[in-house]
Amino acid sequence: MNQQSTKKYDFLSRAFHWVTAIVVISAFVLGPGDFGQIMRDGIDPATRGDIVWHESLGIFVFVMTVLRLLWVACRPPVSHTKMPSWMQVTGTLVHVVLWILLLAVPTTALLSLGTESHPLTLLWGVQVDKLNVLATSSIAKLVDWGDVHKFLGDVIVWVASIHAAAAIFHHLILKDGVLSAMLPYKWFR
Ligand code: HEM
Ligand code: HEM
Repeated sequence: MNQQSTKKYDFLSRAFHWVTAIVVISAFVLGPGDFGQIMRDGIDPATRGDIVWHESLGIFVFVMTVLRLLWVACRPPVSHTKMPSWMQVTGTLVHVVLWILLLAVPTTALLSLGTESHPLTLLWGVQVDKLNVLATSSIAKLVDWGDVHKFLGDVIVWVASIHAAAAIFHHLILKDGVLSAMLPYKWFR
């Protein structure tokens, strides 16, 4: 499996991938432990830069993921590195889990804000109150959406870390070009 020539992902796929990775990690870092409670205590979220940035970056991830999935559906097929089928299947499964989490983490955040009647508060003073119609809906009583969001926010970072470790293993041990296919240039080849 040494040094096979691997077709790189196209420019747009690579750009989407790395911008998403940076923004997800930034949103995670800006997820202050107590801010659900701060909002329940009645603070105006617009006065908290960490809340505004967390919500804005998270919404950006959602919009980018929708655009990215549209691109995945239309892009030219990527010729993947040859590897044992169990490895191929596991890799694909991890990608599917990441795609689901990229959509589910922001969605559960919106459900959390709506069911607790908090506004969505974004950069440049944008505030959306309309989500609070969810507070009287049946989904409000299903679960504590804030807890689900916090849990999935941690899970996406764990799964992405395992995924990144696998990519580094491919690069350093299997030397099969999987990581280079996603890097901007022919780094480390
Ligand atoms: C990829 C995107 C996101 C990630 C990785 C993420 C991650 C997290 C994490 C880990 C926490 C818990 C912080 C802690 O307790 O230590 C959290 C809380 C929270 N996040 Fe996000 N988040 C994302 C997107 C969003 C979006 C889009 C919004 C708003 C629309 C949002 C709103 C909130 C709120 C309101 C809480 C507090 C929940 C509560 O305590 O009830 N997040 N987030
Ligand atoms: C939050 C962080 C991350 C997320 C959400 C994420 C998500 C994804 C997704 C959804 C794909 C499929 C892309 C497509 O088909 O266009 C992918 C591919 C890939 N990612 Fe990540 N990723 C993250 C971080 C990383 C990091 C840090 C590395 C490297 C150290 C990495 C290396 C790769 C590689 C090499 C591929 C291509 C794998 C293949 O062709 O089988 N990713 N990633």
